[in-house]
Amino acid sequence: MTRILYARPIKESLHLNLKTSIQKLKKNGVVPWLRVLLVGNNPASEVYTKNKKKFIEGLGGKCDIIHIEGDTTEQHFREKVRSLSSEKDLHGFLIQLPLPKQLSHIDAGNLIPPSLDVDGLNSLNMGELLKGNVHKNSFCACTPKGIVTLLDYYDIPIIGKNICIIGRSLIVGKSLSALITNRNGTVTLCHSKTKNLEYHTANADIIIVAIGSPKFLKTHHLNPSKKQTIIDVGINKSQQGKLLGDVDFENVKESVAAITPVPGGIGPLTILSLAQNLLQAAEKTL
Ligand code: GUN
Repeated sequence: MTRILYARPIKESLHLNLKTSIQKLKKNGVVPWLRVLLVGNNPASEVYTKNKKKFIEGLGGKCDIIHIEGDTTEQHFREKVRSLSSEKDLHGFLIQLPLPKQLSHIDAGNLIPPSLDVDGLNSLNMGELLKGNVHKNSFCACTPKGIVTLLDYYDIPIIGKNICIIGRSLIVGKSLSALITNRNGTVTLCHSKTKNLEYHTANADIIIVAIGSPKFLKTHHLNPSKKQTIIDVGINKSQQGKLLGDVDFENVKESVAAITPVPGGIGPLTILSLAQNLLQAAEKTL
């Protein structure tokens, strides 16, 4: 029987702890406060930011979404980031990605003070991740952190396993390759120029797909004798408005040991990681 790796039991098991920690902080006069800057009207970004706000407020924290026009100039954007992130009692600040075309060359992570960078995208936080430094003064990128939380929860070992990551984005693939290497997994990081992708996927114990291409991973990539685990990071919308992952779930699920669904898999764990990072930032101010 294929195991479907749902986020729900993980969220349920960690929710109470998070809520209790936030209540404790509030008794000490600290309300964890996240500010999200949303530029333009990307429908997916609007949904993600709303979900972040709902989850953080549900835990007792504070989250405001600041929305600015998609055609904003670079100068106005930089000024906005500077003023919004210099609020005194703020614990976390993030810029929802992707940015509109005229701003897409900007290294958004580096505009954020490292101590507020609960997304883990500032060079300082990335550097600490690369060095394998796990401490309360730095933040790990949320989706990679959520993936490792899921593997740990379902007792899927990482040490010594072959982990094939497809997609080399900073926010997922590159950060995740560092995080998994730190956990003693053997990482193969594949991307659009990789030759013979099937060779790498067939050799993997765990395949993680994060390329934003609906139903990309198919049965011909698999090696059923390895009882593989498939982690699907993709959130794509079909023309009919249905959410589709980067994995051809219905066909692939027959040939693997375990697989994450979309929706209900990695997406909610990214938000859970964000809340954990925000709590960490707020606890530091005590
Ligand atoms: N867009 C999609 N995922 C993320 C994320 O984790 N952080 C930010 N800032 N933007 C995103």
